[in-house]
Amino acid sequence: METRIVWYVIMGAMTLAFAVALMGLRQARGHAIGRHAVLMAASAGMVLIWLVSYLAKQILFGRETFGGPEEIYYGLYIPLFIFHMLCAAVTLGLWGFNLHHGIRFLREKASNAQARPWHGHRLAGRMGVLSFGVTLVTAYLVYLMLFAWYPGGAELVADGSFSRAGSLNP
Ligand code: HEM
Repeated sequence: METRIVWYVIMGAMTLAFAVALMGLRQARGHAIGRHAVLMAASAGMVLIWLVSYLAKQILFGRETFGGPEEIYYGLYIPLFIFHMLCAAVTLGLWGFNLHHGIRFLREKASNAQARPWHGHRLAGRMGVLSFGVTLVTAYLVYLMLFAWYPGGAELVADGSFSRAGSLNP
């Protein structure tokens, strides 16, 4: 099966999850907490589905093949990929934190009408939406580098040297 199709599905789902997050942000700004909570939880759920599909893709199809020159691989592709992964990890952490505190707030609110959300929720949430956006943009760049600018044909062999023969993809 073409891994490119899997990528299209994953990237499309992530773009949709980000759009849902922006809608959730808008609801928070309008103090519509119920709708904000549902949209943010839906967006987080889509990201979780992404995590599972991404891991499944890695296990089933292996890593993608970068076909460009070695200088670009180490000088640009790998730093970009590491930055992308760091942003994704930060996003997951911030979202998990905010989801946890948001749900706790809803529980407290049920028994105490005066309950206030955790004071860091707004800042962590804004940073989480921003890091989600950066994750998405860098994901598009990684995708373009792999499939549009430097399509497959070379592979890193086990001893760390660079080989142009063959592909990592079965
Ligand atoms: C079930 C979950 C959640 C509940 C109950 C909840 C609740 C709230 C509440 C009460 C506020 C204050 C809104 C106001 O000013 O009246 C708020 C703001 C905010 N929340 Fe959540 N939240 C939840 C999940 C999330 C998640 C997962 C994120 C992810 C990033 C998030 C991001 C934000 C942001 C960015 C703001 C500030 C919006 C602004 O004023 O710019 N929330 N939330």
